[in-house]
Amino acid sequence: MSVSRRTLLAGAAGAAVAPMARAFPEIMIRSEIKPVVISSGNGNIFKNGGTETCVQKAYRLMMSGEDVLDSLIEGVNILELDPLETSVGYGGIPNAEGVVQLDSCCMHGPKKWAGGVACLEGIRTPSKVAREVARQTDHHLIVGKGAQEFARGLGFTIEDDLNTPHSRSVWQEWKRRTDPDHYLDPKKRGEDSLRVALEMVSEGIIDPLHVYGTINCDGINAKGEICGVTTTSGLAFKIPGRVGDSPILGAGLYVDQEVGAAGSTGRGEANLYGLCSFLIVEELRRGLHPKDAGISALKRVARNTIEKRLLTKEGHPNFGLQFYVLDAKGRHAGVTMSGGAGYAVCDDNGPRIEPCEALFH
Ligand code: GLY
Repeated sequence: MSVSRRTLLAGAAGAAVAPMARAFPEIMIRSEIKPVVISSGNGNIFKNGGTETCVQKAYRLMMSGEDVLDSLIEGVNILELDPLETSVGYGGIPNAEGVVQLDSCCMHGPKKWAGGVACLEGIRTPSKVAREVARQTDHHLIVGKGAQEFARGLGFTIEDDLNTPHSRSVWQEWKRRTDPDHYLDPKKRGEDSLRVALEMVSEGIIDPLHVYGTINCDGINAKGEICGVTTTSGLAFKIPGRVGDSPILGAGLYVDQEVGAAGSTGRGEANLYGLCSFLIVEELRRGLHPKDAGISALKRVARNTIEKRLLTKEGHPNFGLQFYVLDAKGRHAGVTMSGGAGYAVCDDNGPRIEPCEALFH
């Protein structure tokens, strides 16, 4: 019988693999991979009026043979298009001037593609534009008007305003409470804007996870192909033009086909300072389990956080930051700066939320 290596690897999840594996040891290695899609917790909540969540759809497409990155992007598109998800895409909480500005990047492990967009206005699905940057250009990051014109040239629909009535009313309430144009002291103005955002969280006007909300989604198929995507509307009420960690390769996402993938949600500034997704993948390369690699990055962030305004009275970082980590064997973890968060998983046991490991309890 003539069986190509490609056929053997593609069938690694099937019943015929065991006898083959005795004859071909490399099949044993490949068959250890358990296909899985992971994401931030919102990836198993929002359905945009449909029947599937992000991880569910991405896993189903991936298992039907679709390209891993295409499957993940189809998954995160659900959140980008869902008006109820106010931290990603259409209806994301706008910047300080009331404009929704979106950031995204993606990486394709086997193809070694990477692409990102930042400060993109008027397009509901920035992850799709990020993929076109990777697919069609020699560049890795296109921002602002240039990114919008790039997308227009490819036929993307450009809308005047991505606010929903809800996101606009949240912004109007923030504006009413802060009235930043009348603060003369820039320091006080900065403090006031954060204080008001947190006050609005405590009053239930903004979901706490949506101040810095984002979705990161990573997957590995039976052939061991690893990809990832991150997409966000960024920090609520940010200074126009502010770019967080999400579209930055090595910060909001990093994928190395030989090693694994990592991505983040939470306070982008803390992650950008340490390029933690790159750091986590390098920790995986040293042989760490995904959970330990993620905790190692959180410890680095905690060590680098020394400003009083960013610390609890116990001296721990007072902001949320999570990492989602997947290694080349399909092992995965979610880690969080402090307790309570979960991350979404979909494998042959179906979609679910699993607890993140917390650095501080
Ligand atoms: N992590 C999302 C942001 O900070 O923009």
